[in-house]
Amino acid sequence: MRIMESTAELQARADAVRAEGGRIALVPTMGALHEGHLTLVDAARAKADEVWVSIFVNPSQFGPEEDFERYPRPFEADAAACRARGVDVVFAPEAGELYPDGHQTWVEVDALTRPLCGAGRPGHFRGVTTVVTRLLLAAKPHVAVFGEKDFQQLAVIRRLVRDLGFDVEVLGAPIAREPDGVARSSRNRLLAPAARREARALARALDVAERAVADGEARADEILARVRAELARAPLAFVEYAELRDPQRLEPAPTRLQGPTLLALAVHFPAASGDPGARVRLIDNRVLHPHLHPEDPS
Ligand code: PAF
Repeated sequence: MRIMESTAELQARADAVRAEGGRIALVPTMGALHEGHLTLVDAARAKADEVWVSIFVNPSQFGPEEDFERYPRPFEADAAACRARGVDVVFAPEAGELYPDGHQTWVEVDALTRPLCGAGRPGHFRGVTTVVTRLLLAAKPHVAVFGEKDFQQLAVIRRLVRDLGFDVEVLGAPIAREPDGVARSSRNRLLAPAARREARALARALDVAERAVADGEARADEILARVRAELARAPLAFVEYAELRDPQRLEPAPTRLQGPTLLALAVHFPAASGDPGARVRLIDNRVLHPHLHPEDPS
């Protein structure tokens, strides 16, 4: 496995692999790798000859009050996990490689970035789309793999790739979960122990909604009331949003669900750090599939 820090070196390797007819799959990450990331590596492996993982904690996608400084950076463990999983290249640039001196070029996706995480994290998606653009230009992959836990991010990146005409397949990989149902996330390790136990509330709330829909419930407000009641059973949880949205355009769902509908959650919990105000933001989601009755509008 090669570890590269320079964009020019990575581009040269991409050209060489492509010249020999090889296929490259890129897994962009911010490190602190867990089994969820490694399932993305496996999905990438099934699609390409070479699997490349980028590790870069992207400053421009964190707000001034967010956890950029606290974000875990266990590089040696990450590199070891990549090596053990058969990764061919780890790309670990310094910030100056991706944001050269005097940087002032940003890539922005419009309406899709406004609701949900975009509403609570102004500028976040601009940071994501700018860095993903840089990574795609540097690695020239045939396939880029992203987790479905970040459902909105995946939708935004698909839009970015279509709008800018990148010749890359964007592959979404299913949410990986801990044995207790909590979606795997690098942020889980930042949770206070009691908060980690309560974090199960997100997956439970998704299950409650799924069961309601399976039982024939189609009223959006009733489904959300049950979701909120389930989240309220976790007293440490602060709900940023619990919303039902159209999974393509991310527009609000109709009052009666009429087809596949995204249930998206963002919930904050206390962090393990000594700072009593420090919080950890977790997200999770599920696409609900309501029964359609003949009298429902299509
Ligand atoms: O999902 C992430 O880890 C990040 O948002 C990404 C896509 C690597 C961009 O920094």
